[in-house]
Amino acid sequence: MNPGNVPPDRTLLDLLREDLRLTATKEGCAAGDCGACTVVVAETVNGRLQYRAVNSCIKPAQSIDGMALWTAADLARPDGTLHPVQQAMLACHGSQCGFCTPGFVMSLFALYQRTVAQGQAVDGHTAHQALSGNLCRCTGYRPIVQAACSLSAEPVETIEEKPIVAALQKLAANEKTAGAYLRPSALPALLQARAQHPQAQLIAGATDAGLWITQGLRRMPQIIDLTRVAELRRVEHYPQHIAIGAAINLQDAFEALAADRPVIAPFGERFAGWPVRQSGTLGGNVANGSPIGDSMPLLIALGAQVVLMAWRKGKAVHRHVPLDHFYTGYRQSLLAPDEVLAWVVVPRPAPGEWLGAYKVSKRQEDDISAVCLAVQLHVQDGHITAARIGAGGVAATPARAVQTEAALIGQTWNEATLAAAQQAIEQEFSPLSDLRASSDYRRQILGQLLRRAWLESTGHKTIRLEALA
Ligand SMILES: Cc1cc2nc3c(=O)[nH]c(=O)nc-3n(C[C@H](O)[C@H](O)[C@H](O)COP(=O)(O)OP(=O)(O)OC[C@H]3O[C@@H](n4cnc5c(N)ncnc54)[C@H](O)[C@@H]3O)c2cc1C
Ligand code: FES
Ligand code: FES
Repeated sequence: MNPGNVPPDRTLLDLLREDLRLTATKEGCAAGDCGACTVVVAETVNGRLQYRAVNSCIKPAQSIDGMALWTAADLARPDGTLHPVQQAMLACHGSQCGFCTPGFVMSLFALYQRTVAQGQAVDGHTAHQALSGNLCRCTGYRPIVQAACSLSAEPVETIEEKPIVAALQKLAANEKTAGAYLRPSALPALLQARAQHPQAQLIAGATDAGLWITQGLRRMPQIIDLTRVAELRRVEHYPQHIAIGAAINLQDAFEALAADRPVIAPFGERFAGWPVRQSGTLGGNVANGSPIGDSMPLLIALGAQVVLMAWRKGKAVHRHVPLDHFYTGYRQSLLAPDEVLAWVVVPRPAPGEWLGAYKVSKRQEDDISAVCLAVQLHVQDGHITAARIGAGGVAATPARAVQTEAALIGQTWNEATLAAAQQAIEQEFSPLSDLRASSDYRRQILGQLLRRAWLESTGHKTIRLEALA
């Protein structure tokens, strides 16, 4: 099929099922939530294939142009011999009605390629992470998790990558700077495209924008896809900060942040599920500006800045904006129509920094926050010398808790200061009541999360759900 014939807002799932009549991939929610539509895509990185499980229901079909694609129909050998991941599901009774099974099998296939095919074993934590974007109504999950954990015991089946890499090189998904689906591969071309087509829908991972198509029934006659821009596919490390390019997916972004601050790793794992973290970007989360977005409270607490870029008077221009000044109202920001968020710049930890990051949601995985709180403290000789607090789910925008910070700075870090700070944070915001939580609950939780930060930062052990076996 000529990708040029595919409308820019046609999803990969609709292309597979309706246009190509390849119906192994199922549609459950069409919202990225259930994982029934999971497929695996691979790109060539340094001559090797890099595999990703993605939700085909919210992925524009054209976004995978030039990549290899596997659906559940592609795993068994022509003689019918099952792939080890299918065999494991069969042996562990991991399927009942079977509706979710093609999606689980594809998540397992991506896991298999990342681990067993590379000679690594699969432990329980890795299995849970890999399956965190798949829902099943029937099995109760234990047999499916068992199937994942048993993969290391299956015979290793490797993919002959060379011909696929060669075929992808021949396809060479070239830069597209004209037409309905623009896919620039260099930063100047992206900025020029943004300037020339201000009405076009800019997308990165499309884990928000894809839902506007499938749930909002919005048409997108022209799309600018920034995920192939080479300059934005990098995390750059400097002595004082790291700069995360706008095309870096959430998984890689959280890993880069957690390298300096390990406490961010479990927090990052609470963001959506694996396939959404493999497609969605940190830049997209920040640019979209949802008041219940998870990365912004953390980034505000860390003192992050965004670098906004545009093409003006024949050249690229940029400006740095501190994230706590970026949002101007509900889903509104300082981003001008011709600007692109190019980098998220995060200061590296200063000596003595203490950080706590907490997400409260109804489900542990694949759920949106009711409240999110991130607290960065510097305590010297028992006194708080600096404090930055980011909060989500409590105002029209991601917010900085400046009054609460003022109640902390200069004080002795004891229970009396905690009580004053709890009172301050409960008064600082007027959260809404909605289906996720009532206003009172949100306010109380803010105070309780501060207490947790006090307990943890003063050496008390608290019980973390993710630490329970
Ligand atoms: C099942 C599911 C679970 C989710 N769970 C969470 C969660 O737990 N926490 C959470 O915070 N979010 C969650 N999300 C929302 C979403 O995944 C994130 O907001 C994600 O980071 C969006 O990034 P993206 O690259 O997919 O953005 P896209 O969908 O591509 O774009 C979103 C918006 O940002 C704009 N944009 C994107 N990149 C740029 C840029 N570089 N410059 C300027 N504008 C840009 C686009 O124009 C668009 O308006 C979830 C989504 C789904 C489907
Ligand atoms: S159909 Fe549910 S995630 Fe795609
Ligand atoms: S086996 Fe029925 S939904 Fe999973």
